Amino acid sequence: MDKEPVQKKIESLTKILNQHNYNYYVLDRPAISDYEFDQKLKELEKLEKDYPEYVLDDSPTQRVGGKITRKFNNVNHKYPMLSLSNTYSKAELEEFDQRVRKLTQSPFSYVCELKYDGVAIGITYINGVLTQALTRGDGISGDDVTHNVKTIRSIPIRIYDSKLPSEFEVRGEIILPHKSFIDLNLEKNNNNEALFANPRNAASGSLKLQDSSLVAKRNLDCFVHGILGDSLPFTSHYENIQQAKDWGFKVSQYTKKCSNIDEVMTFIEEIQKIRTELSYDIDGIVIKVNQYDIQEELGFTSKFPRWAIAYKYKAEQGVTTLDNVIYQVGRTGAVTPVAELKPVWVAGTKVKRASLYNADKIEELDLHFGDTVFVEKGGEIIPKIVMVDIAKRTKDAKKVSFTQKCPRCGTPLKRKEGEAVFYCPNSSLCPPQIQGKIEHFISRRAMNIEGLGEGRIEVLINHKLISRAADLYKLKYEDLYGLEKTIEDEETGKTKKISFKEKTVNNILQAIEDSKKIPFERVLFALGIRHLGETGAKKIARQLKNLETISKTSYEDLLAIPEIGEKIAASIVDYFNEYENIQTINALIDAGLKFEIEQPDFESMSSSDLPLAGKSFVVSGVFEKYSRNELKEIIEKKGGQNISSLSSKTSYLLAGEKMGPEKKKKAEQLNIPIISEADFDKLIQ
Ligand code: IVH
Repeated sequence: MDKEPVQKKIESLTKILNQHNYNYYVLDRPAISDYEFDQKLKELEKLEKDYPEYVLDDSPTQRVGGKITRKFNNVNHKYPMLSLSNTYSKAELEEFDQRVRKLTQSPFSYVCELKYDGVAIGITYINGVLTQALTRGDGISGDDVTHNVKTIRSIPIRIYDSKLPSEFEVRGEIILPHKSFIDLNLEKNNNNEALFANPRNAASGSLKLQDSSLVAKRNLDCFVHGILGDSLPFTSHYENIQQAKDWGFKVSQYTKKCSNIDEVMTFIEEIQKIRTELSYDIDGIVIKVNQYDIQEELGFTSKFPRWAIAYKYKAEQGVTTLDNVIYQVGRTGAVTPVAELKPVWVAGTKVKRASLYNADKIEELDLHFGDTVFVEKGGEIIPKIVMVDIAKRTKDAKKVSFTQKCPRCGTPLKRKEGEAVFYCPNSSLCPPQIQGKIEHFISRRAMNIEGLGEGRIEVLINHKLISRAADLYKLKYEDLYGLEKTIEDEETGKTKKISFKEKTVNNILQAIEDSKKIPFERVLFALGIRHLGETGAKKIARQLKNLETISKTSYEDLLAIPEIGEKIAASIVDYFNEYENIQTINALIDAGLKFEIEQPDFESMSSSDLPLAGKSFVVSGVFEKYSRNELKEIIEKKGGQNISSLSSKTSYLLAGEKMGPEKKKKAEQLNIPIISEADFDKLIQ
């Protein structure tokens, strides 16, 4: 293909895909199927791979992230990021209205908006291009999270409009929708990582991830509720916000212009009725004077604007009694107390249980059996007990004290210094721990052994066929064929039969065999070392290359690995100090699992595997995934050439952290593309 048509094709595919992304992520009205979208995306990816020089900065392929931010720079806001005065009372809202009307003689209107419960963001566009995104910080300066914000698909990276102001800033709220929050916590739970308490914390944590490719997977969303700049198209808030909607931003349909405070009150009540149906959290309504000149006239108090106020909804509460406290044992032995309640309706759902988090929480609430308790939906999803009505407590009520023994195997519980969680130390024999560990081992992101879900692991444990993951590799057809069990679904009360017929058994055995090819990073994750999630396992595997080295690495050396904290490092050292674990590992080695990282087999590559043929590279700086020498080796093996200094003939500058500014400047002067490690990975794929 000629270069000209290719460039045009890349441009047109980029435009079409951006429009479909807008339909999907902003309008929530997809116009083509996911399959069709993926086909077009693949086509674009292929063209971009062959012609990287034509990749546009707003290409949808750039949304997958890849940029690593080691430390977020603190940058001053051009316009300070203020907060609002709050009220829970309609009477105070009336007072706000009276104050405003006293301070101005001119006619004005109000704009009512949802008060999104997320993370504030300010995004600057210069000549239509997203150039900077800052968090609120202390209001004067915030963290530069531009790379991460660019992965959010409802935020345009480039805006095409001939009438666009040359520079402006949008203010908005980054949120995590309920479904994504639940999925994320499920995944965290599977990975044995600490859960996020609510979607706001999850959004804030996600925005501060160092690896933007992980942010891209989090499904963050953004509602825009403000726009600032010197030459905005309109002189009022509502009109500019509607314009921002036309530029491709997500502006809520629940944004209303009201001519007086009565209309504001009606809006508040209308939203109160539907707020639990929204797919994300809001905690109130923001009321703003619409006209900028009147906003200016009203000005600010020492802390807040006088032209806006937030009306906050009271959290939905229910009152009920505490029947019992039960204890659940997780796969790592962590024991979680759960309150069993007399069923009560809160915010549209029937609440029967509430999390009590840990022993400290029980103590803090001074909980007694039979207590009258107030339940609230934390983050609107997970119910929690917020208060006890002590006046209603009977004299003989017994205090709830955290169980001393494991509810499943009776072993006395332990608590680690400085940790809030009690755990059962009997990790190799305690049934839920055995089961949980094996379930984690076979899970999709670990060894991906299909066919053993739906309680089948429990059947195998009960038949004493397995008591640790390594036993799976000894299973034979005769062991499994004919096993069966009837189980009762706790929720529905319906019974279900689990059976091991010929086809199921063959599938299971094949899946177990196939799992021997799973790469070392995932085997390491599958071992279920406390606190070691998928990402941590990858980092360690790539750095230390094999299990033997990991087992011999000291706590201090583990800590030196990027993103490995004290908890993980200590947990790895503990893991290798357990005789049981060493035995399990030896059995897994015997079974033929991979315990070292695989280096690409360059020797057996054919000439068609030389994607870097004819390209020359200068490699500079410190890299995340490969060492500098490894990169140079890959360049040569893939047909490229390493050169030591930049010249006009250099194809790429492969830039890592800490690369000198001079080099960057020179590359820019010579117009040499500067690529990251992730870009390089794409080139060689
Ligand atoms: S306007 C001066 N509008 O609430 C006006 N803020 O306490 C500043 N928020 O930090 C904010 N939804 O992050 C505005 N529709 C909305 C909002 C909103 C959520 C957040 C925002 C701000 C905080 C104000």
